Amino acid sequence: MARSIVILTGAGMSAESGIATFRDSDGLWENHRPEDVATPEAFAADPDLVHRFYNARRRQLTDGVVAPNAAHVALARLEHELDGDLLLVTQNIDDLHERAGSANVLHMHGELLRSRCRACDSVSEFRGDVDASTRCPVCGTEGEMRPHVVWFGEIPLGMDQIFTALERCDVFAAVGTSGNVYPAAGFVQMARAAGAHTVELNLEPSWVNTDFEETRLGPAGTVVPQWVDEVLGA
Ligand code: APR
Repeated sequence: MARSIVILTGAGMSAESGIATFRDSDGLWENHRPEDVATPEAFAADPDLVHRFYNARRRQLTDGVVAPNAAHVALARLEHELDGDLLLVTQNIDDLHERAGSANVLHMHGELLRSRCRACDSVSEFRGDVDASTRCPVCGTEGEMRPHVVWFGEIPLGMDQIFTALERCDVFAAVGTSGNVYPAAGFVQMARAAGAHTVELNLEPSWVNTDFEETRLGPAGTVVPQWVDEVLGA
C-alpha cells in the first residue's frame, strides 16, 4: 500500500554524530545562551560574536569529524525503499541527512552551509568562515552576509509545503526533538487532525509526548533503524 510519511527531526537526531543538542542540563548551547547568538538582536549588537559562533559550528561539519549516524542512514533508506512519498522536515542546520542520502529534505530552520545576503536576499553556499567583511557572491555588497539560519523570533522556512504534507500524511514521526519550539511542536496535532498515525522516537518523552499515539524511547541510532525496518516490512 502506498503511504505518505512526514518525519520531523531535531537535535537528538545528530547527538550520536557528536553535535551538541540545544537544551542540555546547563541550558547553554556550546557555552552560549541561545539569546546571545541566535536572535536578530544579538547579530545587530555583536555580529563578530555571532559569526564566530556559527563559523565554529560550520567547521564542525567540514573538518571531517562528524558523520551521519545509523538513524540518518535508516531514514535515507526509508525514503528510497518506501512505496509512497516521504518528506523529511528537519530543525537541524547540519547536512547529515543529505550526507546519509536523503533527498527530500526541508530545513525549516535553515542551513549552516549557506549564507544569506541582507542586501539582495540571495542565498549562497558557504563552506568556509564568514565575517563582517565577507562579500556577497551575487551582488558584491560587502558586510551584509548573515547565516542562513532561522533565529528566535524569525519565521521558519517552507511552512506552506509542510502544512500541505501534514494534511495528507498517514504517518507522522518525530525524532530527537524536545517539543519546546513552535510551530514544529504543533505538527503532531495537525497530523492527528488529518487522521495520521503519530509516533515519537526520542531519548526521553518530549514536552508534547502525550499528543502522540505511540512512543519509542531510546537513542535515535537504535530506535530509528528498528522502526524503519518495521515500516518497510509492514
Ligand atoms: N537520540 C534521540 N533523542 C535524543 C538523543 C539521542 N541520542 N539525545 C538527545 N535526545 C533528545 C533529548 O531528549 C531532547 O528531547 O533530543 C531532544 C533535543 O532537544 P533540543 O535540544 O531542544 O533540540 P530541538 O528539539 O531540535 O530544538 C528545536 O530549538 O534552539 C532551537 O532552532 C533551534 O532547531 C532548534 C529548536
